Amino acid sequence: MTRRVREPMPGANDDPGAVEVATFAHASAMAEIHRAAFRAAEAWSRDVMLLQLELPGTFGLVHPAGGMLLARVAADEAEILTLAVAGEQRRRGLGFALLRAAMRRAAGMGAVSMFLEVAVTNHAARGLYVAHGFVEAGLRRRYYSDGTDALILRSTLDAAATDS
Ligand SMILES: CC(C)(COP(=O)(O)OP(=O)(O)OC[C@H]1O[C@@H](n2cnc3c(N)ncnc32)[C@H](O)[C@@H]1OP(=O)(O)O)[C@@H](O)C(=O)NCCC(=O)NCCS
Repeated sequence: MTRRVREPMPGANDDPGAVEVATFAHASAMAEIHRAAFRAAEAWSRDVMLLQLELPGTFGLVHPAGGMLLARVAADEAEILTLAVAGEQRRRGLGFALLRAAMRRAAGMGAVSMFLEVAVTNHAARGLYVAHGFVEAGLRRRYYSDGTDALILRSTLDAAATDS
C-alpha cells in the first residue's frame, strides 16, 4: 500500500500536490522519468530502481505529476541518490516538494545531515539545492562519464525536521 505524504507546493503552483513514498509498483514510472531527464549513460532502468528500493535504509519518493527521488540513510547521514522531474513539469515546484519531503523523511529516520553530488554545470539543480540551504562541502574532479566535475553539497536536517 502507498503511504501518502502531503507536501504543500511552493511558488506560483496552486496545486497542493502530493508526494508519495515509492513502492515497487512505481519502479517503471520512476525509470521513465529518469530516462527522460538524464543522458543515456546515466539513466537508471526499472531494475535499478527496484534494486535501490529493496536496499535497507534506501527510500524513494514520487510526485504523481512527474517527479521522482531516491535517497538513503546510513547512521546519521543521508544522501540524495538521484532526483528528476519530467521536462514539461519543471519550474512548478515538484523538485522542491520532493527534496523537502526527502529531508523530512531522512530526519525522521535519524539523519542529521544530508549530502549529494551535483554537476558543476547543472545550474537548475544547484539553484534548487541552494534554495534548501545546501552549501559546498567538496569537489570530485571528473566525477561524471563526460568528464564534468561534481560538487559535493551538504545540508543539516534540523530545520527540515522542525519546519512545519
Ligand atoms: C533539477 C530539477 C529536479 C528541478 O526540478 P523542478 O521541479 O523544476 O524544480 P522546482 O520547480 O521545484 O524549482 C525550485 C527552485 O530551484 C531553482 N531552479 C529550478 N530550476 C531552475 C533553473 N532551470 N534555473 C535556475 N534555477 C532553477 C529555483 O530556485 C527554483 O525556485 P523558483 O522556481 O521559485 O525560482 C529538474 O530541473 C530536473 O529534473 N533536472 C534534470 C535532472 C537533474 O539534473 N537532477 C538533479 C541531479 S543532481
